[in-house]
Amino acid sequence: MAQSTKSDLNLDKIVSLAKRRGFVFQSSEIYGGLNGCWDYGPLGVELLRNVKDEWWKKMTLQENIEGIDASILMHPKVWEASGHVENFTDPMVDCKECKARFRADQLEDVMCPRNPNRPAIRCQQEGKFTEARQFNLMFKTFIGPVEDSSAVVYLRPETAQGIYVNYQNVIASSRQKLPFGIVQIGKAFRNEINTKNWLFRTREFEQMEMQFFVKPGTDDEWFERWRQERMQWFLDLGIRKEKLQFQRHEKHKLAHYAKDAYDIEYEFPFGWGEIEGIHNRTNFDLTRHQQYSGKSMEYFDDATKEKYIPYIIETSAGASRSFMTILVDAYAEEDTGKEIRTVLKLHPRLAPVKVAILPLVNRENMPDIARNIFNDVRKDFRAFYDDAGSIGRRYRRQDEAGTPYCVTIDSQTLQDQTVTVRERDSMQQERVSSSGILKYLQEKLKR
Ligand code: GAP
Repeated sequence: MAQSTKSDLNLDKIVSLAKRRGFVFQSSEIYGGLNGCWDYGPLGVELLRNVKDEWWKKMTLQENIEGIDASILMHPKVWEASGHVENFTDPMVDCKECKARFRADQLEDVMCPRNPNRPAIRCQQEGKFTEARQFNLMFKTFIGPVEDSSAVVYLRPETAQGIYVNYQNVIASSRQKLPFGIVQIGKAFRNEINTKNWLFRTREFEQMEMQFFVKPGTDDEWFERWRQERMQWFLDLGIRKEKLQFQRHEKHKLAHYAKDAYDIEYEFPFGWGEIEGIHNRTNFDLTRHQQYSGKSMEYFDDATKEKYIPYIIETSAGASRSFMTILVDAYAEEDTGKEIRTVLKLHPRLAPVKVAILPLVNRENMPDIARNIFNDVRKDFRAFYDDAGSIGRRYRRQDEAGTPYCVTIDSQTLQDQTVTVRERDSMQQERVSSSGILKYLQEKLKR
């Protein structure tokens, strides 16, 4: 059995594989890139879509969860009510010598741009930095042709607010009753002072958020339930249990809206990092929107005839961070005895390409049979046809892309109409009737 060597993993290897195989490219690369922004390539966009689909299905197949898709630009009052105009800030310092900018609370983690071996905290200790000042992370732009203060709007820094302002619309149109949830997947933007670690901290990213509305007093119970459910989601996608942990927010570090909060963290090559937050946001947001909009955010409980503003349990995952977690966790280098193979052990439901069809040689009717199988399976699955190079090289290319199955059409196929199916992780091969290949894959990929 091949040995996996995941422990000496460094992020550079994954970033380089992701670029080479078309998962992730630097944004606007031909112009030198744009800091904190990344593009998803042909394999990446499939993987990201599969991650989001898994999340969406997990949520919306529940009868008390509805989805929405709110606009990115919202009325500027939303961000006053939410507290973002006032509180969504990070402390920033400038170096008086090299003019670099840093987050004042992360100086241990970043290096001086002039001397990459020197932590920025040393420069601070030597008095090179300005006093810290608060920097608001929201991107500002203008609506309409006049660029004055009355036209300012923000690119949303979280998707949550689009749900709060629509909560009464959703109740009225869907006739949901408490407890129920509203979900949304969409882009969020933060003008981070320091971006870092590839997709981990970027300026443009995607969130997958759920806001679950509950009766006050039942919030602790629902908080606990969602905390467990969200951890299970990552486990069900095959993320290694020992690489996941909860981190509870200390009371004095809680966000301005939160009564309790846990992060789900993953152990990346650079250390533990948050991938999802589960927050008890109380009735803070709805109360503030009621105050600022003058519209009632109360819920009328038909059963008890009570009126109240619901409490909200939020689960907030980064789609981009989940994508990165899944890639990092799947990446393995294995010694097969003959060579080191690089393989992405992606959960089959997440794999961008499900099956590769490989005619052993380009003659003796093998390409025709292979094409027929390819045309048949790609009605159901994303498939890839590859007839170039040795079969060993073709298998390696698919291993790197995370393709769970390879189907090879060889000389035995011509005699008994069977093909070889090779499974990515075990590299085990079995012979399957070529007419039954679609059914075989449907069965295997159901997992
Ligand atoms: N609505 C609550 C909220 O936005 P958050 O902890 O600020 O909470 C939630 O963000 C998730 O969004 C994080 O766990 C992370 O996965 C993702 N996220 C936040 N900032 C990010 C950034 N700059 N780059 C990539 N993902 C980010």
